Amino acid sequence: MSRFSRAFVLLACAGVLTAGAWKYSFAGEEAAPRIKEYTPNISSQEYEKRYNAVYGKSTEKMAEEGNPADFMLDDGKDLFGKAEGSAGKSCASCHGANGEKLKGVAATFPKYDPAINGINTVALQINRCRQEHMGAAPLKYETYDQLALELYVKSLSNGVPIKVSIDGPAKPFYEAGKAYYYKRHGQFNFSCAICHVKYAGHMMRANLLSSNRHHADHWPAYRLDWGAAGSFQKRFRGCNKNVRQEVLPFQCETYRDLELYLTYQANGLPIQVPGFKM
Ligand code: HEC
Ligand code: HEC
Repeated sequence: MSRFSRAFVLLACAGVLTAGAWKYSFAGEEAAPRIKEYTPNISSQEYEKRYNAVYGKSTEKMAEEGNPADFMLDDGKDLFGKAEGSAGKSCASCHGANGEKLKGVAATFPKYDPAINGINTVALQINRCRQEHMGAAPLKYETYDQLALELYVKSLSNGVPIKVSIDGPAKPFYEAGKAYYYKRHGQFNFSCAICHVKYAGHMMRANLLSSNRHHADHWPAYRLDWGAAGSFQKRFRGCNKNVRQEVLPFQCETYRDLELYLTYQANGLPIQVPGFKM
């Protein structure tokens, strides 16, 4: 960061953050752990070749048969127009009948939000709107209605290239997400990055390890393995469990930071929800 932009951020932050919060984000930036980044073991062309060899046919077949989560998307649209809570409002009352005011918005999430001095996700924002603007109870994460609304809001950005920012106050949270991704932990002493950066494109039992560049553009997704739709963070928890790491609560700070880190890797790729995975 140049001296000029640092001074600018300082001025901007001093206005909106409490002294304690500012100290935290500044300290986080200073104390950003040094990470030795991996380079993928194979070229991106070789990766594409292997990916198509393993998944090419099944993806085609899935596309023909349709995505079961399309029904959930329709239900999400209905929920968006349904009044709930003490204010008697629906999402549509403020964001347009067909969510037109939210078109393209999900492509900028997750993002830093001074009101929570942290990273805001689409799922978190929906619950904040329910509580602060509708007088309604927050939706429990991963329930049908919660996922359906999140899916619908994200679908309003289908085809829009992801463009999340990690500048200014977002930076320390991005670094925290990256540090988590690279940290070896759990009973098997794995890090996320070993499998999804270094060995992406290699087989692990029957699976081709995917590259993290392509992780953030298609969630919530329907997964055959779950027989249901689920969120990006549910997938984090699945990998945490598989490699015997601690499984964290939905929308906790670590998973939101991780979501920012991974979504930034996918910058430029168009959003495509609902995804369909094995
Ligand atoms: C009474 C008006 C109101 C209602 C009803 C409402 N919101 Fe919001 N929404 C806002 C305001 C104001 C913001 C700006 C941030 C804030 O104050 O929380 C916002 C922000 C958002 C954003 C982020 C927009 C951006 O540009 O970053 C999303 C997504 C969103 N709302 C979704 C929803 C959904 C889904 C519902 C229904 C569950 C809903 N909102 C209900 C007023 C409303
Ligand atoms: C031992 C290897 C291994 C480790 C470590 C691991 N994963 Fe995975 N992960 C897999 C396999 C295998 C799959 C399924 C095949 C694929 O898509 O890569 C997968 C799939 C995923 C997917 C879905 C990919 C998609 O296309 O949507 C995400 C997201 C993911 N992992 C995130 C993580 C995160 C976050 C961590 C660290 C907490 C992690 N993984 C650690 C092996 C691993």
